[in-house]
Amino acid sequence: MTESRGQWSGKLGFILAATGSAIGLGNLWKFPYITHENNGGAFVLVYIACIVLVGGPIMMAEILIGRKTQLSPVGAFRVMSLGKPGGKLWQGVGFLGVLAGFTILSYYSVVAGWTIHYTWLALSGQLAELATNPEVLGTYFGSEFLADGTQQVSYHVLFMCLTIGAVFFGVKGGIERVAKVLMPILFAILIGLVIYSSQTSGFGEALRFLFQPDFSTLTKGAVLEALGHAFFTLSLGMGAMLTYGSYIGRDISVPRAAMQISLLDTLIALMACVIMFSIINTSDIEVAKSATILFTTIPTVLIKLPGADILNAVFYLLIGFAALTSTISLLEVVSSYAIDELGWSRRRATLTMGSVITVFGVLNALSLGGNDALTSINLIGRESTAGVFGTMDYLASNWFLPVGGFLIAIFTGWLLSPKLTRTELEDGHGLMKSFTGWLFLIRFLAPLAVGAIIVSVILGKEYQ
Ligand code: TRP
Repeated sequence: MTESRGQWSGKLGFILAATGSAIGLGNLWKFPYITHENNGGAFVLVYIACIVLVGGPIMMAEILIGRKTQLSPVGAFRVMSLGKPGGKLWQGVGFLGVLAGFTILSYYSVVAGWTIHYTWLALSGQLAELATNPEVLGTYFGSEFLADGTQQVSYHVLFMCLTIGAVFFGVKGGIERVAKVLMPILFAILIGLVIYSSQTSGFGEALRFLFQPDFSTLTKGAVLEALGHAFFTLSLGMGAMLTYGSYIGRDISVPRAAMQISLLDTLIALMACVIMFSIINTSDIEVAKSATILFTTIPTVLIKLPGADILNAVFYLLIGFAALTSTISLLEVVSSYAIDELGWSRRRATLTMGSVITVFGVLNALSLGGNDALTSINLIGRESTAGVFGTMDYLASNWFLPVGGFLIAIFTGWLLSPKLTRTELEDGHGLMKSFTGWLFLIRFLAPLAVGAIIVSVILGKEYQ
């Protein structure tokens, strides 16, 4: 262990940072949108099943490898694969993770940057004017804001600076500190908004939509989509959880941590749905079935409620906070690689890697000019339609993450001995009665399920 390797101050710091990584645009943007598209109820249940049966077990695998090796993904797989079939080739999983972090961050921060713009639009009263008519706002967003290269690049760079700033100050002094401030605020705002939405007339309908399953509306595509999303929302498949797990000690229970992180992440995703559907149901606005609900429809509805400007500002600030703790984790994976493997100082690693990603992300920021590009914004999208942005998203979500997750499951389930994994899961936890259950899930169900995603991508079947 080198001197620059940090450690969380304790369990709370780790849980908050990891939850911060998990909760992001995936929860507040993507999940409500795909839940809407897949008719609620039954889809929500399937999604929860995917979190419990596939996501949770893989998260345990990532955290246990991190805690055991106290290294970032490349080094972790090198050390763990010693003397195993495939040997050093397993390092490739780590490299894939670094590549995925690089790729995802380069477009994620572009979208995250929009939240700054919208917060400002709300505070300056401009959003109120734009949002009086959904069409006006839609045109503004698609043809004006997205097409304005200078703005796109500026907000992207601004968001990257915030991200780099946090990672620069290290595990405890930067990442954990930001999470400890932002996560409680985020929870508080969300609870406030849920209370607010419970007073609206659309609340009951929102609950029915979310929690009254009608399995006749469920498609095969929806199941795969739920699974893919479970993966993305828990930050799995690229070693982000592995890296965060490498900063904990043996006193922290891996199964319990994985459970708490997954539970919080799911809770927040559901709260986001309750808020958004209540608000939308309350108005008579027709929701466009589009990935851009968050930036085109929501303000037009919020604007009709009392305190609209503040409500809108708080809302977009919330999303920005959630996105920031996620971009931090993405950059941390890339930086920690340079720190652990190339022997760079944290400052040098963060500044260099952060700058390279920022510059690369400019291509994404500039590839969105015009309404057509909107169809490609999908975060864990299935298709690569428009430009660099769409391609990055497609590569990361359909290839890097599933392949990474598949290999992590195979490695942990089949190459590591059950004796070792049991010790790792029980240290700091106590006797784990469900160990056999976990082993079954990580050996069979997780690879099969993630394999299904990969196969469907290879076959070119759209499962949206
Ligand atoms: N989980 C985050 C979200 O839902 C995104 C994210 C952060 C992520 N780090 C990741 C996704 C690592 C995959 C891998 O928005």
